[in-house]
Amino acid sequence: KDGLSVGIAGLGTVGAGVLRLLRDNADLIAARAGCRITVVAVAARDRARDRGVSLDGLRWHDDAVALAADAAVDVVVELIGGSDGTAHELVMAALEAGKPVVTANKALIAVRGDEITAREGASVRFEAAVAGGIPVIKALREGLAANRIGGIAGIFNGTCNYILSRMQAERLDFATVLADAQAQGYAEADPSFDIDGIDTAHKLAILAAIAFGRPVAFGSVHVEGIRGISALDIGFAAELGYRIKLLGIARATEAGVETRVHPAMVPLASPLARVDGVHNAVVIDADPVGQVVLQGRGAGAGPTASAVVADLIDLARGRAAPMLGVPHEARVAAPSVPMWAH
Ligand code: NDP
Ligand code: HSE
Repeated sequence: KDGLSVGIAGLGTVGAGVLRLLRDNADLIAARAGCRITVVAVAARDRARDRGVSLDGLRWHDDAVALAADAAVDVVVELIGGSDGTAHELVMAALEAGKPVVTANKALIAVRGDEITAREGASVRFEAAVAGGIPVIKALREGLAANRIGGIAGIFNGTCNYILSRMQAERLDFATVLADAQAQGYAEADPSFDIDGIDTAHKLAILAAIAFGRPVAFGSVHVEGIRGISALDIGFAAELGYRIKLLGIARATEAGVETRVHPAMVPLASPLARVDGVHNAVVIDADPVGQVVLQGRGAGAGPTASAVVADLIDLARGRAAPMLGVPHEARVAAPSVPMWAH
């Protein structure tokens, strides 16, 4: 049959955003994909909920896992979230049925990525899982494919960066800005994943596995969040010429790949210091290219839908689904990018 028929499970911030983007840019996407990409079926919990986007003409599944067995669905887009439960069951059912999967679920890929991608014939794409609208996975796999990576440092959580930036600029308190980030659709269903650094650790584990070509056990990532950061800390840091940012850092060392997530005092001269609001940024230290910096919106409906739909376009074009990483000897050298200690 012509075109790619999509089933979307999860119609929250991201799912509704994907539906909207596929409709708004349908002709452009078809031209770039080489065929039409059409949503034919959806699943969520509450059929009566207004999602700000029409579901007319779409098949509705109360049981999201049933989407995998819907004969009209060529590709399953998983936008429910969580490393286990329905999201995991759906992805496994889709792969069992021989259907490709696109997901934004960093928890699932960080915790179960090896198991999922190791399945015979598995086709799983997850650009939206790291840094929202910034195509950092594609950058590592495609544009930087000839490089050895020495280290990666970045701001990977839009909610935390939004909180820290607004506490800094407007002297607002933590709880007020967190509530606003939740209202904007930036935060995870359980926002402690954001503010305790777990979401950043999920993303870092995925990037490190890709960059260094070896599995990263999620439990091995050192994780500290931003709960302990006060307006006073932010003020003192500013007086000394620093910004406090929640960073994820991965680098090759003689002892292996070091991965850590913690708040850091970032000097104003660094490319990460002035990345504010919901923006994320990634600094990649690569050989031979040198330092590469990517920045853009890291959360929210539009940026995340942009990455999900890019994966659907890749699929329609027949590009091979990526593995988590290709084994190789890491480049252990003094990083040309400072990998901020504190
Ligand atoms: P939301 O909480 O806004 O949406 C989740 C959706 O999943 C809802 O539509 C909900 O249904 C549905 N759902 C939940 N449980 C079930 C279930 N058991 N069966 C069927 N449907 C279910 O989440 P987001 O859209 O924000 O996030 C979705 C995924 O994208 C997550 O993995 C998240 O980490 C990831 N992500 C989110 C980003 C963002 O900016 N929000 C950015 C990048 C990735 P109902 O609406 O009926 O309650
Ligand atoms: N909760 C995440 C964030 C969503 O704030 O960055 C994007 O992955």
